[in-house]
Amino acid sequence: MLKRVYIETYGCQMNVADSELMFGVLGREGYLRAETAEDADVVLVNTCAVRDNAEQRVIGRMGELQRHKRPGSVLGVVGCMAQRLGPALLARVPRVDLVVGPDGYRNLPELIGLAQGGQRVSDTGFRPWEHYEDVPAVREKGPGAFVTVQRGCDYRCTFCVVPQTRGVERSRRLADVQREVAGLVEQGTTEVTLLGQTVNSYHDGEHDFADLLRAVGDIDGLRRIRFTSPYPTDFTPRVVDAIATTPAVCEHVHLPVQSGSNAVLKRMLRRYTRERYVEVVAELRRAVPGITLSTDIIVGFPGETEDQFTATLSLVTEADFDDAYTFKYSVRDGTAAVRLKDHVPDEVASERLARLIEVVRANVRRKNMARLGETHEVLVERPARRGHLMLARTRTNQLVLLDLPATAIGEYQTVRLTGTTGSTFTGAVVLPQLAVL
Ligand code: 5AD
Repeated sequence: MLKRVYIETYGCQMNVADSELMFGVLGREGYLRAETAEDADVVLVNTCAVRDNAEQRVIGRMGELQRHKRPGSVLGVVGCMAQRLGPALLARVPRVDLVVGPDGYRNLPELIGLAQGGQRVSDTGFRPWEHYEDVPAVREKGPGAFVTVQRGCDYRCTFCVVPQTRGVERSRRLADVQREVAGLVEQGTTEVTLLGQTVNSYHDGEHDFADLLRAVGDIDGLRRIRFTSPYPTDFTPRVVDAIATTPAVCEHVHLPVQSGSNAVLKRMLRRYTRERYVEVVAELRRAVPGITLSTDIIVGFPGETEDQFTATLSLVTEADFDDAYTFKYSVRDGTAAVRLKDHVPDEVASERLARLIEVVRANVRRKNMARLGETHEVLVERPARRGHLMLARTRTNQLVLLDLPATAIGEYQTVRLTGTTGSTFTGAVVLPQLAVL
């Protein structure tokens, strides 16, 4: 009998990669991919726990999915929220059959079997050895691929729930990563994004992140390497040098700073000061000409004063970020920040978030306006959401809309940036004989 699975994915790129692993685990058991929940025998929701609003969205969605559940079908919650809440989720959403955390995906076929037999099951065991090394991920079609190189996290940022949801940090063996990427390249992949919670602290016992970048960079036919997310103080001189001297490594780093105030950074247990962060930024800019930098910022962390918040505003211009993801602090049970005093009222946090977004937008807009007229190599990734245009990406991570046919997906083109909304660009393909080399 045909079995069909539908997976809906929330959260970060690692969740996208984990969903691809789950398709791999279930694919080996004969499951096919369903395009909608209605067509599926098994519906899994791969969840994020990093902020409360991510969880509320999932709770809402689970309500919808359970209303439309067919007799005999299985509804499961997997991922970080499943790990965090465990069996409590079974109580909270009555028609959920299955709750499985990030280290339990190997057991999905068996657990689904139990659920089909009428049991309600959960698996939230930590398995610190688990890398799913033998599982062939079933990836979305496209020129790029996510490759997880490290799972878990050993940092203890006081706001963050991830150590509780993904367990201890461990790295895959360099040779295993290299083999997987070589296999992808053989099938047509030309860009990989290496994933880990603190990806530049990668260490497999023998090799560090610099070794990994060089090893992956040596693979013939691979044109672009990205990685996310690094931790500021794990950019050792070796790693910076590997980024600078490995041609495939793209000129963009996403470098979460969280706050521009030393007092707040200290309460967050981030292991750097503003000054050290700015130094890392300078080191990267010196080593990699033209590099762009994006970041993550939290406002309204417990005890954040107006002055400490304005220190974050001034850092946006001092570090001169090319992009920033901004969040209101969300209290997470079981994290150390729960015990901090002086919670910032929601209205204050909202107002700070709005001011921060203004400053970020202005900076990004100014930088993007200055890029008009530049020539860039782009990789054509997919159709844009609206209209007939294609979405392409520069090595520096700018998005460019191009008037090209869908057959151009996967191609590298040289384009001139002709317009910008402030965040994304429109561009025109530069004919090869006219390209400024
Ligand atoms: N509240 C708000 N934002 C958070 N992040 C992580 N934990 C929290 C939290 N409790 C943000 C950080 C991180 C990004 C992935 O999510 O900025 O870098």
